[in-house]
Amino acid sequence: MKVDLLLGLQWGDEGKGKIVDVLTKNYDIIARFQGGPNAGHTLEFDGIKHVLHTIPSGIFHKNSMNLIGNGVVIDPVIFQKEIENLEPFNIDFSSKLCISRKAHLILPTHRLLDAASELSKGKSKIGSTLKGIGPTYMDKTGRNGIRVGDIELEGWSDKYRKLANKHELLIKNLNVDLQYKLTELENDFFKAIEKLKKIPFIDSENFIFNELDDNKSILAEGAQGSLLDIDFGTYPFVTSSNTTAAGACTGLGIPPNKIKEVFGIFKAYTTRVGSGPFPTELFDNDGEQMAKVGNEFGATTGRPRRCGWLDLVALKYAVKVNGVTSLMMMKGDVLSGFKKIKICTEYEQNGKAIKHFPYSVSDKLLKPVYTEFKGWKEDISKINDEKSLPKTFLDYIKYLEKELKVPISIISVGPDRTQTIIR
Ligand code: GDP
Ligand code: IMO
Ligand code: MG
Repeated sequence: MKVDLLLGLQWGDEGKGKIVDVLTKNYDIIARFQGGPNAGHTLEFDGIKHVLHTIPSGIFHKNSMNLIGNGVVIDPVIFQKEIENLEPFNIDFSSKLCISRKAHLILPTHRLLDAASELSKGKSKIGSTLKGIGPTYMDKTGRNGIRVGDIELEGWSDKYRKLANKHELLIKNLNVDLQYKLTELENDFFKAIEKLKKIPFIDSENFIFNELDDNKSILAEGAQGSLLDIDFGTYPFVTSSNTTAAGACTGLGIPPNKIKEVFGIFKAYTTRVGSGPFPTELFDNDGEQMAKVGNEFGATTGRPRRCGWLDLVALKYAVKVNGVTSLMMMKGDVLSGFKKIKICTEYEQNGKAIKHFPYSVSDKLLKPVYTEFKGWKEDISKINDEKSLPKTFLDYIKYLEKELKVPISIISVGPDRTQTIIR
């Protein structure tokens, strides 16, 4: 019996989907605990690339159950498309996937509210994925939300109408130029709800208690990254859920003392999509090279990702907040060919050294201080044993392990399932 967590340590897109897929064979259940279709988790195998938004990344394995937990917010329209995209792969969703009755629904008006809210903010917009995430979590904490379990009950459409009307008033109040045809959006929504009903709705915390009593193992799959956490991220440029380890407890009903390993995933450099502070962001050829070689475009929105050097101050913070027991370093292959590789080891502000991740990362006077490392020329994407890796690459890893005081257990050298070195 065990529960392990896997989560992103940066601003998302670290490669969580790939690693969950690699690890699934070791678990009975893969469970998403927060976020929603703002996530885009990419898996590659057999020459095919899949992008999952709401469905857990264990779905391609025969023997595991996949759970969408109570902490997740679900857009039935996006969910339906995801299921349709997977149709050629003959997955029996009714036996391999289940949804918590306590998960909240993203309504069409949540998406509209997200768009109106961003428009009203102008230049200071969050850079949201516009999937309705913020407004849906607002209704959850405001105790107005509609949950998956509600659609099994009489009269839920009245509840829907009331909430949608309220959202329309809120949109009007924001006084922005937002054109929409709600009737069409609602038609799609209600059709998609019928499809959603084909997946079993369950009392998921009870399911988890029973499975744990039966000695089953669970891997909880995080979405987004620790620096997008609603409490510990670069607020207000964050998402609306707890992306850090504690989110798995509330998002699945898992008691903290049942959690064993916390796998923390990071890229060998840093990326960010959307607005918000990013101390090590690059605006030069190095940044362009990372974006090009790393194919840094958002898996959900297609937006270019901002790129920069690894930020060890932020990474140390994320390791602490999550209690990471094992690290996984992704995309080292992208750094091949750089003469020098830099790591931000502290910040400097008004001539003072800052060694922790401070309250105000957005302060323009906060400058990264770098330590330089020698690069490596070799293409490492076809290497599958640690011993064949270039010495300078191994030095980079050794340095990070020493600084972070946590072992790096997986080195990923390419997007495919097979391009994974397990140590
Ligand atoms: P997630 O949201 O954390 O699951 O990550 P995304 O799927 O949004 O973004 C990670 C991207 O990097 C995807 O396009 C992956 O296919 C790709 N990827 C994952 N690991 C590696 C790696 O080690 N090297 C390279 N070059 N690409 C990788
Ligand atoms: P995965 O799971 C990267 C970012 C958005 C925006 C901010 C708020 O694929 O790593 P939201 O739509 O949540 O209101 O957007 O968070 N963001 C992500 N960035 N990866 C993600 O998920 C993200 N999910 C949200 O770009 O800056
Ligand atoms: Mg992603």
